Amino acid sequence: MGRTGGDDGLVAASASAEERAFEAGLRPRTLAEFVGQRKAREQLSIMLAGARGRGRPPDHVLLSGPPGLGKTSLAMIIAQELSVPLRMTSGPAIERAGDLVAILTALSPGEVLFVDEIHRIARPAEELLYSAMEDFRVDVVLGKGPGATAIPLDVAPFTLVGATTRAGLLTGPLRDRFGFTAHLDFYDTEELTAVLERSARLLGVELTPQGAVEVASRSRGTPRIANRLLRRVRDYAEVRADGVVSLEVARAALKVYDVDPLGLDRLDRAVLGALVKRFGGGPVGLTTLAVSVGEEPDTVEDVCEPFLLRAGLIARTARGRVATPAAFAHLGYDPPPGPLPGQGGATSLAGSWRGDGPEPATLFDESVDGAPGES
Ligand SMILES: Nc1ncnc2c1ncn2[C@@H]1O[C@H](COP(=O)(O)OP(=O)(O)OP(=O)(O)O)[C@@H](O)[C@H]1O
Ligand SMILES: [Mg+2]
Repeated sequence: MGRTGGDDGLVAASASAEERAFEAGLRPRTLAEFVGQRKAREQLSIMLAGARGRGRPPDHVLLSGPPGLGKTSLAMIIAQELSVPLRMTSGPAIERAGDLVAILTALSPGEVLFVDEIHRIARPAEELLYSAMEDFRVDVVLGKGPGATAIPLDVAPFTLVGATTRAGLLTGPLRDRFGFTAHLDFYDTEELTAVLERSARLLGVELTPQGAVEVASRSRGTPRIANRLLRRVRDYAEVRADGVVSLEVARAALKVYDVDPLGLDRLDRAVLGALVKRFGGGPVGLTTLAVSVGEEPDTVEDVCEPFLLRAGLIARTARGRVATPAAFAHLGYDPPPGPLPGQGGATSLAGSWRGDGPEPATLFDESVDGAPGES
C-alpha cells in the first residue's frame, strides 16, 4: 500500500521485498508457534483436526485484517498442519479468467491455494472461482458469440485460503463461499512481547523482559513492526552498548530512530495532526480528512483508523471523526476545554481550537469508552 520507505519506514505496517525475505525466517510454522489470536487459532485448529480426521480438505478460509498481523503466516500454517502443498498467488496477479483456470487445473488433490489480496481479483476470474469453490469445476468458454462453447473442467478438491486487508470490498457471493472467516485483530503488548521473545531467540539477540515490553508497546499492535524494531534495537545494542537489549538500551535506540512512543507512523500522525490542528478536533468526514492528508479514504479507513480507534486516539461519531483528549496530548496540544468536540459543530476549518469557545458536545460512540489501548 505504498507506506514503506521515507521516515516512517520503521513503523509502516507493510513490508518491503528485503523485509519479506527476512520475515520468512521468523514466521511461525505451526499453530502452536503462532502467538495470540487465541480465538481464531482455536477455531482453526478444530476445523483442521476435523478435516484431517475425515481425510477431506477443510472449508475455504478467509483471513482478514490490517497488514502485518499474520495472514500469510496463517495460510502457510494451514497447509503445513494439513501436510499438503501450498500454492501462492494474489488477486492482482490474476488478471484474466484464463490465469485462474491455469492455476486451478494444475492443483493436486487437497492442495491449499492461497490468494493474497483476494479483493483485487478481476471480476471474470472471481466468477469462475464461484463454481471452483463450490463444485470443484470450472467452465472454460471457447470462442466468442453464438458459436462459443463451454467446456466443463474438473478441479481437484482444494482449500482456498483468501487474505484481505479489505474484507468490506469482497462481493457477497465470494464471501458466502468461505466456510470459515477469521478476522485478525491487533496484538496486545503481552502478545507482542511473546512474539519478540521468540524472534530474539531465533536471531540470537539477548533481550531483557523490560526491553521486550518497551519494544512491544511501540509496535502498533503489529508483529511485523515488532520484529522490525527488534532488528534496529539490536543494531544499536551492538554498536552503542554491550549487545544486550535492556529497557535503557531499547529506549535510547527507539529515540535515535524517532519511533513514536505509541508506534504511530507517518500517515497515522498526519491524520491525527489534521484532525487536531486543522479541524479543531473534528468532527470531520472521512473523505475530507483523507483528502487533507493526500490519501485515499479507503486507506485511511482500513489501514490507519483501526489502530487509532483501538488506541483510543480517535472516535467515530454520526457526524464524522473526532480526536480524543489523548490525541491532543499525544501531539503536545492542550486538550480542548470543556466538553469534547462532538456532533454539534460543523467541521470548523483552520485556526486553533482554543479560544473559539467550546463546541456543542455530544457523546462519543462506545468505541472510545474504556481503555486507551495497550500503550
Ligand atoms: N501470531 C504471530 N506470531 C509470531 N509472529 C508473527 C505472528 N503474526 C505475524 N508474525 C510475524 O510478522 C510477520 C508478518 O506476518 P505476515 O506476513 O503473516 O502478515 P500479513 O497479515 O500477511 O501481512 P500483509 O497484509 O502485509 O500481507 C511474519 O513474518 C512473522 O514473523
Ligand atoms: Mg501477507
